[in-house]
Amino acid sequence: MCIALKSILADQQTYDARDAFADVFQQLLGAKALASNDTDAPCQLSQQLADDFSQLAQSYREPLHALPEHDTYSRNIIGTDDKWIGFICRWGANVTSSIHGHPPFAYYHVIDGEVAMDFYRPINDCEALKTSTTEMRAGDSIFSNNKSNQFDNLVHRVRTTSTTAFTLHLYSDNPAKGQLFKAA
Ligand SMILES: [Fe+2]
Repeated sequence: MCIALKSILADQQTYDARDAFADVFQQLLGAKALASNDTDAPCQLSQQLADDFSQLAQSYREPLHALPEHDTYSRNIIGTDDKWIGFICRWGANVTSSIHGHPPFAYYHVIDGEVAMDFYRPINDCEALKTSTTEMRAGDSIFSNNKSNQFDNLVHRVRTTSTTAFTLHLYSDNPAKGQLFKAA
């Protein structure tokens, strides 16, 4: 029986930051094009978006640092568009997230700080094998666009490797439905 990420999220971990980041969210919606098969050059588009967000981050230092701190990470909703949802997460030092899956489309951009992403391959409904690790720093982004309508896409865990980190996310559905895994 699979368990969803929402079962372990603390109530006080999710906040509404739509007012402070409304225009960041409008720009973030540009990443939806990465989910479209019409995109000829997803890598160039992804790089362009990352460059735009890096520039934006300069003017958002104050609201970013005003986001709530949590003993793991705070999840700050910055906007919704139908089922699409954008977040900025503020991470503390030495945090390791659960191993979890995602909706079919997921976009991550590191605004500030450094994180390591450990990627996993599910071997059944509950367990996954680690396959690789990617170090990400400010300005780096990744996206995943899968066919599965389940929430077992892009299975990973995030570890902070700096004292704090801020990450920007766009998902095609509520990421709290993401499937939880144990390391095999
Ligand atoms: Fe994730």
